[in-house]
Amino acid sequence: MNVITRDPSAGTPLARLDPSDPALYQNEAWGPLFARLRREEPVHYCPESRFGPYWSITRYKDIMAAEVNHAAFSSEAGGIQLVDQPKELSRPSFIRMDPPRHDEQRKVVQPIVGPGNLANMEVLIRERTCRVLDGLPRGEEFDWVERVSIELTTMMLATLFDFPFEERHRLTYWSDVAICDITAPDPLVPTEEARFAELKVMAETMGALFKARRDGPPGFDLLSMLAHGPATRDMPLREFMGNLALLIVGGNDTTRNSMTGGLLALHQNPGEFRKLRDNPALIPGMVSEIIRWVTPVIHMRRTATRDIELGGRTIRAGDKVAMWYVSGNRDETAIEEPDRFLIDRPRARQHLSFGFGVHRCVGNRLAELQLRILWEEILARFPAIEVLGPPRRIYSNFIHGIASLPVRIPR
Ligand code: HEM
Repeated sequence: MNVITRDPSAGTPLARLDPSDPALYQNEAWGPLFARLRREEPVHYCPESRFGPYWSITRYKDIMAAEVNHAAFSSEAGGIQLVDQPKELSRPSFIRMDPPRHDEQRKVVQPIVGPGNLANMEVLIRERTCRVLDGLPRGEEFDWVERVSIELTTMMLATLFDFPFEERHRLTYWSDVAICDITAPDPLVPTEEARFAELKVMAETMGALFKARRDGPPGFDLLSMLAHGPATRDMPLREFMGNLALLIVGGNDTTRNSMTGGLLALHQNPGEFRKLRDNPALIPGMVSEIIRWVTPVIHMRRTATRDIELGGRTIRAGDKVAMWYVSGNRDETAIEEPDRFLIDRPRARQHLSFGFGVHRCVGNRLAELQLRILWEEILARFPAIEVLGPPRRIYSNFIHGIASLPVRIPR
């Protein structure tokens, strides 16, 4: 396991601490740094970083306070990541909007994850999960991310958009393009311009489907919902690009990384795996614990619209503010024994991984459903899954991602 428990920032003055460094997440070195911030300066100002000056909110209750105060902590004023989207390449989407526009657009896609639709999708998700698991090799090494996590989430995306199934890997590619850090040592796209160009191809490809759906009767897929929704049917191209990217990334990377991160957590905690085997009824609670443990979205950013007090500090109008979910989910003042992965944790759903307030994740029930079915079907088939080596993690301060995980299913 490659979790760093020694504090690499020990001895560094508080003002110099910069949790925005993507290498911290690639190396799983963020734990001790945030433990120190929560202890010594839970609302922290970093005067200088590659993203300019910014505030860090690290405690559970302060993150909740910012989440519910969208009038003072805006998503629209500067976007949702510490890195700014260049103005000339901007791609608005409803996660980057404040009410009332946000609410009008969110309402358009909300029915995709309504209880009735989820119940309908359950059968299909289970059937596909069984097929993917039954097709895995026995007794030989393979990559869990490629063969299971990506495969299942890509199929799900194709269904959500009613996108041609045989071309579904294009959706995954666009999702990876949308979130990749262009300053990484091996970025998928090298510049913001190249990213924009690829996402334009996405918008053109999806645009043709969008037009066809607009001319037909309303259907139960995301493109049809956007094409018929009063707040979205006449979106300008850039907003179409932005909303597509939001829905593709939302439904893809986060669930993918929970599928991988859960397997890794159970491997690192064999006692919990035994508990699970003995009592599969623990699966729903375990799914929430996996999502807390993994924290697939590392931070969300807000911009202060006015001077505001938080945790005894005064944040000024216009300042960038990062809500570090990875830290809030390990806050010892809000969660008992937060550094332990416990599949039977009481109130397991009270984590911050889905955010809170008006932007709370639209897809949270769908993600939980996919993960629940995956674990039900794993338990029904495999007595064990061996993890053969450490995960390769991605270079990002936004998506907490695992690029590969070598495993073997014993014969
Ligand atoms: C928003 C996490 C799965 C679609 C969000 C936010 C987070 C998040 C942190 C922002 C919350 C905030 O700002 O307060 C996750 C995690 C997932 C997951 C951890 C899986 C484990 C999904 C899925 C979908 C989806 C499966 C697609 C169906 C969205 C959308 C938003 C969103 C559209 C924007 C909501 C808004 O601005 O109103 N998600 N998500 N997510 N998520 Fe998810």
